[in-house]
Amino acid sequence: MTAVIKADNLAKTYGDVQAVKGVSLSVEKGALFGLLGPNGSGKTTMIRMLTGQTRPTSGSASVLGIDVTQDPVGIRARVGIIPEQETPPSFLTAMEYLKFVAAVRQIPEIGKKADWWFDFLDFADKKDVLCKDLSRGTRQKLMFTQAFIHEPELALIDEPLINFDPIMQDLVKDYLAKYVKNGRTIFISTHILEVAEEICSEFAILHKGTLLHTGPVADLKARGEHLPAFFLSLVGKGRHV
Ligand SMILES: Nc1ncnc2c1ncn2[C@@H]1O[C@H](COP(=O)(O)OP(=O)(O)O)[C@@H](O)[C@H]1O
Ligand SMILES: [Mg+2]
Repeated sequence: MTAVIKADNLAKTYGDVQAVKGVSLSVEKGALFGLLGPNGSGKTTMIRMLTGQTRPTSGSASVLGIDVTQDPVGIRARVGIIPEQETPPSFLTAMEYLKFVAAVRQIPEIGKKADWWFDFLDFADKKDVLCKDLSRGTRQKLMFTQAFIHEPELALIDEPLINFDPIMQDLVKDYLAKYVKNGRTIFISTHILEVAEEICSEFAILHKGTLLHTGPVADLKARGEHLPAFFLSLVGKGRHV
């Protein structure tokens, strides 16, 4: 088995807040890995460290064999990323933004690829609209497109379904599940447990910066357990997820 992501005792402290407290995990090629946890548990900080957007305070991690502190730019060149609550630049139209992404990522035939995505996510009518005038859902469609248009071998997405309506959520869930079928890998963070149960092959539970569990979703199913109940038994009932 090949580890596409490997974190070893990874930690991040902001001032006196210990956001992530020594997390070790491994994500195999072909996995759809879900990082689950209540608000404030450190999911976004983990993704930010794994994509070289923030430097770990201690510990180490490699992504596609590249050390996150030594070559963060190298990692970002290879993966697809949707950061939490990120929106495309307000001053570009949807199409101009994709052309910009294509220039940075050296993606050939961007017109053809963009048209496929406009059609697939049903926003062709917004192609020439400035991003500042797009709804949140449409901006999320564009962010989704920029993360996958170069068909990266690994995509890291912070809350992939946020801002999508139920129809779009279904389409996107299906896309993610199919995407990993030919050896590509996806790492998502989510607090929607039912989604993780439905599409993830592996999951980890992060709580107050500490990893409480990691393992295959199939193991739970084989025991007749459901992810939401399992999650609550570990994290504690009465907490907001
Ligand atoms: N840039 C930052 N500066 C200070 N504290 C932060 C920063 N980013 C996150 N935190 C804190 O770190 C903890 C984990 O946050 P985060 O990684 O965003 O969790 P999650 O994505 O699971 O909601 C929280 O207590 C949050 O307030
Ligand atoms: Mg978050």
